[in-house]
Amino acid sequence: MKLEDAQSKKQALQGEDIDELLKYTRIIESSVQKAGGLARELAVMSRKRMLEKESVIPIDINKLIVELQRLLSGTFPKNIEITTEMNDSLPAIKGDILQLEQVLLNIVINSKDAMPNGGKLTMKTFVTDIVNGNFEYHYLKPGKYATIQISDTGEGMDEATLSHIFEPFFTTKPVDKGIGLGLSTAYSIIKAHRGYIIAESVLNKGSTFTIYLPIE
Ligand SMILES: Nc1ncnc2c1ncn2[C@@H]1O[C@H](COP(=O)(O)OP(=O)(O)O)[C@@H](O)[C@H]1O
Ligand SMILES: [Mg+2]
Repeated sequence: MKLEDAQSKKQALQGEDIDELLKYTRIIESSVQKAGGLARELAVMSRKRMLEKESVIPIDINKLIVELQRLLSGTFPKNIEITTEMNDSLPAIKGDILQLEQVLLNIVINSKDAMPNGGKLTMKTFVTDIVNGNFEYHYLKPGKYATIQISDTGEGMDEATLSHIFEPFFTTKPVDKGIGLGLSTAYSIIKAHRGYIIAESVLNKGSTFTIYLPIE
């Protein structure tokens, strides 16, 4: 599902009761999961996820975040406060916009699941300059990276859970709630973009996902 489509539906939903909005959130969830299943099949077929040359375009990450915020503020429960902090001069990156939308949706839906009693969801963008020998980012080549950081004040994870979250089919959710493909899909999409995704979490405090995407 494209964010724009959802946005126009969201406008149609305005003024209706919260049950309607929650129903719509579940539609997003199931479409994300279907896409996740399809992504897995494709990944299995090709062993390694590749980007289709034709679908790689310059992307304004801030615009993506603004669209996402608009979608979420119309669909997420009202007890989840959504804020953004963006670097206005963030350079464009090159990528597959549908895949990157998928990554962001997978992450924010997990945040929503982690905040059943409400909380705060914060989406930030900034530039990270990775220099040689910077141990914290040793997975990444030196250079400038557009960085997206998504934080929630949800239930968080212990060390054991955190160490498995990017594995396919790892889930701590009941069968009807999750199949454990959201973050493994996100991981392979970000890798295909020559970027990196890192998760940090404190149990009962919240989680932060940071995505680095190379600026050409
Ligand atoms: N924001 C978050 N807060 C707490 N736990 C999380 C968060 N995001 C992911 N997780 C944990 O990672 C697991 C895997 O996530 P995911 O791959 O999206 O699969 P699913 O959502 O289907 O369980 C979740 O089941 C949950 O245990
Ligand atoms: Mg998920």
